[in-house]
Amino acid sequence: MTCAIVTGGASNIGWAIARRFAATHRVLIADLHEPAAALPQGAAFSRTDITDPLACAAMVDRARTLGPIAAVVHSAAITAPPTPIEHLPVDEWRRVVEVNLTGAFLVARAAIPALRETRGAMVLVSSRAARVGYAALDASPDGTKAHYCATKAAVISLVRSLAVELAPAHVRVNGLAPGSIEGTMIPKERWATLAARIPLGRLGRPEEIAEAAWFLCSDAASYVTGHILDANGGTWMN
Ligand SMILES: NC(=O)c1ccc[n+]([C@@H]2O[C@H](COP(=O)([O-])OP(=O)(O)OC[C@H]3O[C@@H](n4cnc5c(N)ncnc54)[C@H](O)[C@@H]3O)[C@@H](O)[C@H]2O)c1
Repeated sequence: MTCAIVTGGASNIGWAIARRFAATHRVLIADLHEPAAALPQGAAFSRTDITDPLACAAMVDRARTLGPIAAVVHSAAITAPPTPIEHLPVDEWRRVVEVNLTGAFLVARAAIPALRETRGAMVLVSSRAARVGYAALDASPDGTKAHYCATKAAVISLVRSLAVELAPAHVRVNGLAPGSIEGTMIPKERWATLAARIPLGRLGRPEEIAEAAWFLCSDAASYVTGHILDANGGTWMN
């Protein structure tokens, strides 16, 4: 059986992705902390800080012990409360760039040699926020989370660069741009208000994002590369 690496796999969307891939792969969950629940059958955990190049290399080495690495889904990221750009602390900006953008680069860079061997697939998780420039259904006077949006937009560009560079090696690279998804990134007290504004009438479930990630890595998507799959209930359409 081949192996799938899921970064950010200890929580919410990443956890759902890890459980989905566990049906077809040996899964390595790479995260700062262990999942709260028991690991899926055949899965393993690697404590990994994706901002650390050596930790990313160790993550790939560990995954190789589970099987040839055929899929990498990068879901790890952070967000921060909205603050108007003119008051946004520089340290906070740098931290979000470090985790969300540099982390995506480091994970991808570390995984490329293994994916070349298997002609595998990679998915980087972006966000609807990247499409619109604000991390909510409406731009708020409290701020847009400009650092979050900018890094998620950069992830889309990184997907395209990776897709072009790796296409000759038959490695496919795609992105996934979820809309508002149930979980702790969006405070629960806001869910009902948001749901009323979403054409499908509800927030997305982590399992629905997991299905999209699984599809993009599967042979069903064998001619799909450099694509950004929007899974947002109809709140933004390309
Ligand atoms: N929840 C949403 O509504 C939503 C919407 C659009 C996009 N997304 C994106 O989906 C992905 C997952 O979101 P989620 O709701 O599951 O978030 P979450 O906060 O529940 O999970 C993120 C995981 O990433 C891990 N992580 C953070 N920094 C890390 C680091 N330096 N090294 C390793 N792991 C690290 C965290 O420990 C956590 O387990 C993120 O990329 C997020 O930007 C989420």
